[in-house]
Amino acid sequence: MSNRIGIASDHGGKILKEKVSVFLRSQGWDVKDFGPSVQSQESVDYPDFAAMLGREVSSGSLPRGILICGTGIGMSIAANKISGIRATVVWDEFTAKVSRQHNDSNVLCLGERVLNHDRAIDFLSLWLEIPFEGGRHQNRVNKISQLERT
Ligand code: RB5
Repeated sequence: MSNRIGIASDHGGKILKEKVSVFLRSQGWDVKDFGPSVQSQESVDYPDFAAMLGREVSSGSLPRGILICGTGIGMSIAANKISGIRATVVWDEFTAKVSRQHNDSNVLCLGERVLNHDRAIDFLSLWLEIPFEGGRHQNRVNKISQLERT
């Protein structure tokens, strides 16, 4: 598995993005940060950042990505419009684990305003480690891909 990962946020997620990026780099991940900068005072539109990251995951240029906004919800709605993206809002160990095992999540969405940031880093680590189970779940993921063509 590649150690490359993308990360992006809006203004509502840039503080947690900075914490997550520092953590990932300390663990040896090669992090591509799409912005915005933690110092920026600008209010930005989360679909723009979801699109930049999502397109690189969709094309295969990045294997996985992390999107952070106030709740994680707007980012997930936007990213899931892009072909090949399975963006999952995750809020604890169980949802982090199952989003990998069952949904083959390739984009993790976090909410800076609704999560304890230290806990978020704990379950983010699970999401990074846990493999997709395949089997009956592969068939279901294939059906999700088919919906992209409808
Ligand atoms: C921005 O204020 C906020 O709407 C955004 O970060 C996010 O929570 C949207 O889903």
